[in-house]
Amino acid sequence: MRSIRIHASRVYDVMIGEGLLQESGRILRDLLPASQAAIVSDDRVFSFYGEQLKRSLEDTGFLTHCFIFPHGEASKNLTVYGQLLNFLSEKKLTRSDCIIALGGGVTGDLAGFAAATFLRGIDYVQVPTSLLAAVDSSVGGKTAVDLPGGKNQAGAFCQPAAVLFDPAVLRTLPIEEYRAGAAEVIKYAVLGNSDFFGSLEQTPIAGQLEDAVSVCVSMKRDLVEKDEYDRGDRMLLNFGHTLGHAAELISGYTLLHGEAVAMGMAHVTRAAERRGICEKGSAARLVRLLKQYELPTEIPYPAELLSAAVLSDKKRSGSTVRLIVPERIGQTVILPVSANEFPGWISGGYEGGLS
Ligand SMILES: NC(=O)c1ccc[n+]([C@@H]2O[C@H](COP(=O)([O-])OP(=O)(O)OC[C@H]3O[C@@H](n4cnc5c(N)ncnc54)[C@H](O)[C@@H]3O)[C@@H](O)[C@H]2O)c1
Ligand SMILES: [Zn+2]
Repeated sequence: MRSIRIHASRVYDVMIGEGLLQESGRILRDLLPASQAAIVSDDRVFSFYGEQLKRSLEDTGFLTHCFIFPHGEASKNLTVYGQLLNFLSEKKLTRSDCIIALGGGVTGDLAGFAAATFLRGIDYVQVPTSLLAAVDSSVGGKTAVDLPGGKNQAGAFCQPAAVLFDPAVLRTLPIEEYRAGAAEVIKYAVLGNSDFFGSLEQTPIAGQLEDAVSVCVSMKRDLVEKDEYDRGDRMLLNFGHTLGHAAELISGYTLLHGEAVAMGMAHVTRAAERRGICEKGSAARLVRLLKQYELPTEIPYPAELLSAAVLSDKKRSGSTVRLIVPERIGQTVILPVSANEFPGWISGGYEGGLS
């Protein structure tokens, strides 16, 4: 088992290792004062791992309660959030009890936001079960639910008490979800680690899973420790996301998040190359790697539609879009682009557009 310590407003460990799910009761018994643990999970994930987690917790003396909701982003809303708060209240959880989020990013964000707000904040533990959750959403303390007006619009910063990732759980993850998670892994490599990019070109993520997750979590740790509240360097994690979110929105959320991010990364890298900001050949390397995971690398929407969607997105500050742009594989910068220049910027990112 390996462990990565995060020093944020709370200090906690991200533990990575086979068998952690079974060991979770013992580990959490030593870590938390809780006598009750509310397991929050979606129906799919719970059917695979819920009983195992419950048993492990009960074997070490926790009284457990299970809150299970229908899987999918559509459940990350105020209604399910309200049901969860009522559930915690009915079960009489106290401030020293805890929530365990067993699942992907939807579960982690929903359970984390409930933990941040129930009784003004109780402990929660992330047990990520998707690749995306393992490398991204379970670490760093961003919690949220979606509003009709947009994704993640109601939320709070609230760090977990611990993160337990057992790589064995990925064996049941649907292949398209694994690929979507791979887009986020590739994101880390492009934004700040060229050696890691080289290693991903040599070996698939599945062949170096624990190492790859550790590299991503360590990179996220560094950014979160510098900028927990997302006002500066943490924004680098949005590489590919400005255009990705726009593409997701235009698709009516039929694109998976990771697919949209893959398109966004490829697009912005091509546009940056075209403007002489990014080293030549970077986009081709990135596209080659994304294609190994059958991820899309071309945004199927015109520049005007994309610009309009980006300019209405919350990432905009005033009339400027802060675009995350690679200078080369392994190095990215935050580039302010004015709303006027933005459509022109985007039009340089289409595949046919590279000279
Ligand atoms: N908080 C953050 O910092 C942060 C960062 C990135 C993304 N997010 C959020 O994360 C969410 C996306 O996360 P996600 O892609 O994990 O989505 P998800 O939680 O919906 O999981 C994807 C699908 O895979 C299934 N699944 C998960 N693990 C499984 C397993 N081991 N076996 C079988 N099926 C499994 C789920 O039931 C679900 O149907 C979005 O809501 C996004 O906004 C948050
Ligand atoms: Zn993402």
